[in-house]
Amino acid sequence: MTIRSASTDWNALAKFFHWSIVVLLLLQGVAAVLMDGFPREMRGTLMMLHKSTGVLILLLAIARVAWRLLNKAPPPLPEVSPANRVLAQLGHGLLYLLLFAVPLSGFLMSAYGGRVTEFYGLFALPNFVAANDAMNELMQKIHEPLFFALVLAAAGHAAAALYHHYIKRDATLIRMLPGNKT
Ligand code: HEM
Ligand code: HEM
Repeated sequence: MTIRSASTDWNALAKFFHWSIVVLLLLQGVAAVLMDGFPREMRGTLMMLHKSTGVLILLLAIARVAWRLLNKAPPPLPEVSPANRVLAQLGHGLLYLLLFAVPLSGFLMSAYGGRVTEFYGLFALPNFVAANDAMNELMQKIHEPLFFALVLAAAGHAAAALYHHYIKRDATLIRMLPGNKT
């Protein structure tokens, strides 16, 4: 596996980051929305799993951005119009922003609340900040709305990918799919 991307294709590591984050976000989002329906005695374990998987997504997002800063992204396909390129860049910027804001607001909600995050029950993560009621409340207020904003942005992004594939019939989606070479 090469670590650097070839000029026209997303490499294996870029695809791994993209799709592992998509799958984890889906599981995390569905589980979070269903969380209230589980019996009380399971809540503690479910919350530990929620916080751990959220931190895992945050770590993957950090690794992904580090990879992205150290590598050249493949240029947009020549058939994509300048206006669509700008739109895609804005959309990707927003997705990166929310990819950090959602788990960070969750982590800070827990940390400002003075609660410990046990990473899959293995070890306690440092909280980094002192307990603070006002900040805890603020993070609790924004965590779920930020998640819904991420869902909306991702839905628009997925629709754009499908538009490229089925309407424009270009290789934008193909070159992000595992196992495909353009
Ligand atoms: C990308 C990762 C994350 C996603 C998609 C996500 C999503 C959500 C959603 C949708 C809810 C609302 C559940 C409901 O009340 O119906 C929620 C609640 C919560 N999340 Fe996250 N979360 C993420 C990461 C984290 C992290 C990293 C932590 C802490 C370390 C965390 C801590 C919490 C807590 C404590 C609640 C309960 C809030 C309350 O009682 O009002 N989340 N999360
Ligand atoms: C929560 C879900 C998703 C998130 C957070 C997300 C995030 C991103 C980000 C940030 C990029 C830009 C990569 C970069 O320039 O560094 C990207 C690219 C891409 N995504 Fe997603 N994505 C999600 C879901 C999807 C889905 C469901 C599809 C397909 C239906 C998809 C297809 C693509 C494609 C084809 C590209 C490459 C675009 C290009 O080559 O210019 N994504 N994604």
